[in-house]
Amino acid sequence: MTLVVLDKRALTREVVQVRLAREDGGALPAFEAGAHLELRVGGLTRRYSLTSTPGERSHYDITVQRAAPSRGGSAFVHDTLGVGDAVDVDGPFNTFRFIGRPPYAVFIAGGIGLTPFYTMIPAAADAGVAHELHYVTRTSIGRLPIDTLRATRVFTYVSREGEADARRLDIVALLRQTRRDAHLYVCGPRRMIEEVRSVAERLGWPKASMHAESFGPSATSGDRPVTVHLEASAVTLQVAPGTSILQAMLDHGIWASYACRRGECGSCYVEVADGIVDHRDVCLSAAERRAGMCPCVSWPTSGAVTIHA
Ligand SMILES: Cc1cc2nc3c(=O)[nH]c(=O)nc-3n(C[C@H](O)[C@H](O)[C@H](O)COP(=O)(O)OP(=O)(O)OC[C@H]3O[C@@H](n4cnc5c(N)ncnc54)[C@H](O)[C@@H]3O)c2cc1C
Ligand code: FES
Repeated sequence: MTLVVLDKRALTREVVQVRLAREDGGALPAFEAGAHLELRVGGLTRRYSLTSTPGERSHYDITVQRAAPSRGGSAFVHDTLGVGDAVDVDGPFNTFRFIGRPPYAVFIAGGIGLTPFYTMIPAAADAGVAHELHYVTRTSIGRLPIDTLRATRVFTYVSREGEADARRLDIVALLRQTRRDAHLYVCGPRRMIEEVRSVAERLGWPKASMHAESFGPSATSGDRPVTVHLEASAVTLQVAPGTSILQAMLDHGIWASYACRRGECGSCYVEVADGIVDHRDVCLSAAERRAGMCPCVSWPTSGAVTIHA
């Protein structure tokens, strides 16, 4: 659908809020807490969590941080997109729901990863779920407003760029003191999610109680082309950075299961017979990683990899 920009305002030096609506003022599709939109911005598709109230159908709000460097998505939103402009939008989609009524919920947000919690924390409050929020940010990005979240207990950690970790969230200490029946909701950079996931796993947290959405890129500019041998299909693929191994398999007509395509669900898991892999998922256990990988995000560092597919 095509939406128009009703309003755009700065929340911090690096973050803007954009209000979108239908040109004819009609009602927008409903969404649930945790949902996001897919926007076509600057010729690229980029996802942004909805930060307006789910019951509000007259407009959508999104909250966008300038990525540095940016290949164009957030830079376009900050520098080019203006009030009155039209934007192509798909969705809402939701891969990060607030599930059921856990006895306790711990929300952990890294930087702009606070955005899905603008809808999820009020959903927890409405469901009567006791909860706390740990919000980690940097002075260079600034603090997003948290008063509308209605969080009962809020802990904020603000550090300067490159500063020693004195004001950093201590994930081990936090999880040690958290009740084991709590559900963990984590959003932010992949590294942070990975740390929470591995500490939770070490402390014996049930996998089903850990929920994460990753905003960060899965590729890095240091990635090199890779040769992928698919044992069961007897096919060898050359895959260039920028295309995931999963995508290369699908493009070649090889059947593969998948869902999120962001390393969050494990649906695309394949066994690895040979090769060294840089694991970029946020869902596999240490044991699963020793035996396989998520080809939607992970990338071999060995130049070649043999997988059972
Ligand atoms: C479900 C979901 C919800 C999201 N919600 C929000 C939200 O509410 N607000 C928000 O601000 N963002 C959100 N994001 C992130 C957003 O979709 C974009 O990824 C973000 O705006 C960056 O896009 P970009 O084009 O500006 O930067 P990109 O060019 O995609 O760069 C982002 C980072 O990738 C790295 N990079 C740059 N070039 C390369 C390269 N050639 N190869 C590999 N890595 C590179 C750099 O570290 C760079 O800073 C969400 C993402 C998801 C998946
Ligand atoms: S498709 Fe979800 S982890 Fe790969």
